[in-house]
Amino acid sequence: MSDPKTEADVIVVSNRLPVDHDENAEGGWRRSPGGLVSALEPVLQKTGGAWVGWPGTAGLELDPFEFDGMALVPVTLSADDVELYYEGFSNDTIWPLYHDVISPPAYHREWWEAYVRVNERFARAAASVAAPGALVWVQDYQLQLVPRMLRELRPDVVIGYFHHIPFPAYGLYAQLPWRKQVLAGLLGADVIGFQRVQDAGNFTNAVRRQLGLETKAGAIRVTAEDGSVRTAVARAYPISIDTEAYDELARRPEVQARAKEIRESLGDPQTVLFGVDRLDYTKGIGHRLKAYGELLEENRLEVEDVTLVQVASPSRERVAAYMQLRDEIELTVGRINGDYDTVGHTAIRYLHHSYPREEMVALYLAADVMLVTALRDGMNLVAKEYVASRVDSRGVLVLSEFTGAADELSQAVKVNPHDIDGLKDAIMTAIDMQPAEQARRMRALRRRVRERDVADWSRRFLADLHAVRGDDA
Ligand code: G6P
Repeated sequence: MSDPKTEADVIVVSNRLPVDHDENAEGGWRRSPGGLVSALEPVLQKTGGAWVGWPGTAGLELDPFEFDGMALVPVTLSADDVELYYEGFSNDTIWPLYHDVISPPAYHREWWEAYVRVNERFARAAASVAAPGALVWVQDYQLQLVPRMLRELRPDVVIGYFHHIPFPAYGLYAQLPWRKQVLAGLLGADVIGFQRVQDAGNFTNAVRRQLGLETKAGAIRVTAEDGSVRTAVARAYPISIDTEAYDELARRPEVQARAKEIRESLGDPQTVLFGVDRLDYTKGIGHRLKAYGELLEENRLEVEDVTLVQVASPSRERVAAYMQLRDEIELTVGRINGDYDTVGHTAIRYLHHSYPREEMVALYLAADVMLVTALRDGMNLVAKEYVASRVDSRGVLVLSEFTGAADELSQAVKVNPHDIDGLKDAIMTAIDMQPAEQARRMRALRRRVRERDVADWSRRFLADLHAVRGDDA
């Protein structure tokens, strides 16, 4: 590891750095899994760019270091910051509020103060490494105040912000005691990106009603304190995945052999249903289990013929709503298995782990039906990963209409997860779907996910930032 350049022309700012601690890895860090990292890493490598973020451990103080051709600029969070800014305001105020109050948001002034303080720290870190006129791209709801703070520190830079989660309807957003400050924070950006057209619309609506600003087709006239006027643009840039990487893994003989082995170890049921989610109340895991349990109860499904594999990866485990969710889900899984398992067959294979990408692709290949039943989801990349992995054009995607992905993946079997009878019928439709119909739909889905991958997403966003700076196309 060596010291990075202190001046970068392209800077990404996100709550987490794109690396995870790993004692066995060279230098002690390994690249985080996920599409965002794979899309942005090449851009930063090419431009000698920097990534500003939290290294993921409370109290850890680190100097900037180089990793894989990127300069990583760590921001320290104390144990208090983690509790008040990350677990509190980010994940117990903004997260539930922006996901349509599926869980009640908590509003605490102390959390807000920590959010302001930590956002300031991120803004200062970004300001300190930005070359004159740099492009700075801020990511997600943990950092909504950074665009404005950064603009005040560095009026010369071009600022983008991308919101990975939903932006709620005005009637809900209006609950937020700091609703004006958050909007003003975001309006510090030149380009404000959302997953769906509807999210961008909800944002401009809130800006009109709370701040009384003029908006026209996503363009917002922002007047600064000194009276100068600039335009911020809010629009949709639906995020995607590294499609090619999933496709390539799914074609590997060893991954296909692993898929076969997974089915065998489940007792070779006729049908494997699959769900994989962070263990989060937005994902509708309980609704999925309820529908499945009723199908078993009504003998529309038999435990000898079907198994549901549910991967629930651990997430935000110190936040009370997540602890409660875990208890509820594990109680339900235990009940369903207790009622329907036989010595040789299990109704639900529940796995509270996360898995490397190879294993995920093998699981996708082993699954006849993929269940995505989120009650609200900015995009849902699992739906896209499943499609990208089905190189055999088989398998059926059951997809909640409350995900951003539903706007794009029109050939999926769409469901309203709140309608348990409708969800049960959709699961049966998927199980009974003929191979020719599966292939017809899957090919159309695959075309979409191939054409719009995450590299395309970042190109589009960065092209708009370059245009703000006046660079040649
Ligand atoms: C969502 C958010 C991300 C976040 C991720 C994992 O996808 O949009 O910003 O990083 O969840 O959550 P965590 O709290 O572990 O960072």
